[in-house]
This record gives sequence, C-alpha cells and structure tokens, in this order.
Amino acid sequence: MKLSKLTLCLMASAFSITGAAARADTIKVGVIATFSGPNAIWGKQFREAIDVYVAQHGDEVAGHKVEFVYKDVGGPNADASKAAAQELLVREGVKYLAGFDFTPNAVAVAPLTKQAKVPAVIFNAATSSINKQSEFFLRTSFTLTQIAQPAAEWAAKNGSKKVVSAVSDYNPGIDAETAFSASFERNGGTVLEKIRMPLQTNDFAPFLQRIKSSGADTVFTFLPVGPATFAFTKAYNENGLRAAGISFLGGGETDETTLNALGDQAIGLVTAYHYSDVHDSPLNHSFVKKLQELHPGSRANMASIGAYDGVELIYRMIKAAGSDGAKAIEAAKGMEWESPRGPVKMDPVTRTVVQNVYLRRVEKDADGKLVNREFATVPNVPDLGFNP
Ligand code: PHB
Repeated sequence: MKLSKLTLCLMASAFSITGAAARADTIKVGVIATFSGPNAIWGKQFREAIDVYVAQHGDEVAGHKVEFVYKDVGGPNADASKAAAQELLVREGVKYLAGFDFTPNAVAVAPLTKQAKVPAVIFNAATSSINKQSEFFLRTSFTLTQIAQPAAEWAAKNGSKKVVSAVSDYNPGIDAETAFSASFERNGGTVLEKIRMPLQTNDFAPFLQRIKSSGADTVFTFLPVGPATFAFTKAYNENGLRAAGISFLGGGETDETTLNALGDQAIGLVTAYHYSDVHDSPLNHSFVKKLQELHPGSRANMASIGAYDGVELIYRMIKAAGSDGAKAIEAAKGMEWESPRGPVKMDPVTRTVVQNVYLRRVEKDADGKLVNREFATVPNVPDLGFNP
C-alpha cells in the first residue's frame, strides 16, 4: 500500500497531537544538585533516594506522570544553580524544583521561584533564613539551629563545661555557632572560642591544635558533609584531641557514606542529628532494604532521607494541586506523615519539617559496620532559627 503525502501529514499531525496530550499529563520536577567533583556524593544520594521512592510508589500521581530532570551544578555555586533553574523552568517547563545541597545554591533561585510561582523543595540546604527569601521554599531536610540547640542542651547536661565551637565559615556554620553558643550559655556552659574555618579547606590540623591548647573539654563542630567532614573528624583523632580528653560533638560529621572509612577511631563520637540509617522502624528498614536492592553497596544518609521525604511532599502537592504552584504551597502547609526517620510535619510558618532530633553515638554493628546508634530522642523539634 502506498501512502499519499497528505495521509502521511495527517498521520504525523495525529501523532503529534497524541504526543502533546501525553506531555500535558506529565509533570516535570527539576532536581538541582552536585553530580560531579569532590561533592558528587550529594547528587548520587538524592538520585538514588528518588529511585527508591519511585520504585515503591510508582511514577503516576492523580493521573499525572511524574518525570525527574537532573541538573549538575558541580558544588556550592550560586551562578550555576540560577542558570540551571532558569533552563529547567524555561526550556524544560518544570512545575516543581527540588534538590539544593548547599545553601548558596538554594538562595540563588529564590527570585526565580517567586516569578514562576514554582515550589522549590529543599532536600538539604540548612540555613534557617533561606525559607524567608521565598514563600515558594519548602524544606524536608533540617536546619542547623534545629540540631545545634538540642546538642547544646545535651552537652550542658552531660558534663561539658567549656566548649570551643569550630564551624565552616558560611551561613549554616554561623547558624550552628550562634544557636549552639546561645543555648549552651543559657544552660550554664562557657564558650571559650568561636573558630570559623574556610569552606574550601581540608587542612584542619592548625585549628585542632588551637582547640587542643584552649583548655576546652568539648569541641562542637559543623562542616558540610563530604570531604571536609571526613578530614576534620580524622584530624580530631590524629591531632590527639581524643587522647587529651576533649569530647567531640557534631552533626553530620559521622555521615554514613564515609563512616566506615574513618575506622575504629570513630567509635564513641557523639552527634545530634535527624537521621541514622539504623533508625529502628519498619519504614526505615524497608527504605534501606530497597536502596540496597536498587543500588548495591550504597548507604542511606541524611541526603537520602531529605530527598525521599521531598518526593513524598511533591507527590502530595501534585495530588492536592496538580501543577498549580501557589495552591500546592498552601496545601503543603501542615502536611504530616510517618517517614523512615520518624514522624514529620511541614511547619506552616517556617515551611521546614518539624521532626525528632536524635543523640547518637558511633558503634560497631554485629556485622562489623560502623553505625550512628540513637540513644536519646528530642521529639518534634521545629526550625528554631526562623524569625518571621
Ligand atoms: C548547606 O550548605 O546548607 C549545608 C551543606 C552541607 C551540609 C549541611 C548544610 O551537610
């Protein structure tokens, strides 16, 4: 059978109409994160957690197919993040933005989210003030003030009297230092020194030597999870702080993705945080099991849980509001669910997740793996650093 030119044209246009209809039902989610360079672990953990969520819940929500589009920004890079968001919004037509490992990458897209009225779900960036910069930000990770205050209260009640705070010198580090110091001093402790370390260094020996000779009984620290946390924690031991009786108190410094590489010297380190991959609940067990099934050798960490719950929130918003961003934000306020980390709720004022903060100690598991074992829970902590 020979097809006329007209028939071919009609077939082509029928095909493109069907194609357009299918596309109209697809809601794209643009994920901005670091997939290359020394901090590429962030993008990997986000993407794998999204895979787990989709494997467990499917890729269709209320008649819409959900498609994730990934953009690499190569690390903390505000300009790259803004360019990626522009491209995702204009060229890809995404209706939701997500990801954002580093604070500057989230801050850079605030004006765009407002112009486009597109919700942006922060899977990590943890400076409290980010959410004030656009009413379209929602955060499923944590904030430094949310974990630093419980850390300070625990330290004050458990023998710490003189602390040196040592943080990375950028917004989340300053939030951690401020919240920790205020709370520790309110609870009777003294902060001897507040050290701010360059974001781009991995040479911590000079700072640790200074802490060692300061007379402190405890060092409180914040560094962004990745090469810096690993290097600092290793240097804490190698510079003899532990041997000198100076306790370690941090957050993400015993991150699951590098914990085994720290070796037995990490045993006993205490951190206050919102997620451990050995959190003992059926939901967490199935989350971790699915991750290992889909990505053998991977370990869940705080980036994984931020992304997993971030997708939960996006699916819930799509169910409530489709691709109407303003309506989606309103619907998100006050949503609550059981997460693999424990109960969570989207605070209607701060738009950051309210969650348990756990005190954890590094231990060796029965199978020889190092884990962050939870030993105390501070329930339902909101973002304490958001001043409306
Ligand atoms: C941030 O830039 O907000 C940030 C990055 C890494 C972390 C925590 C916070 O581990």
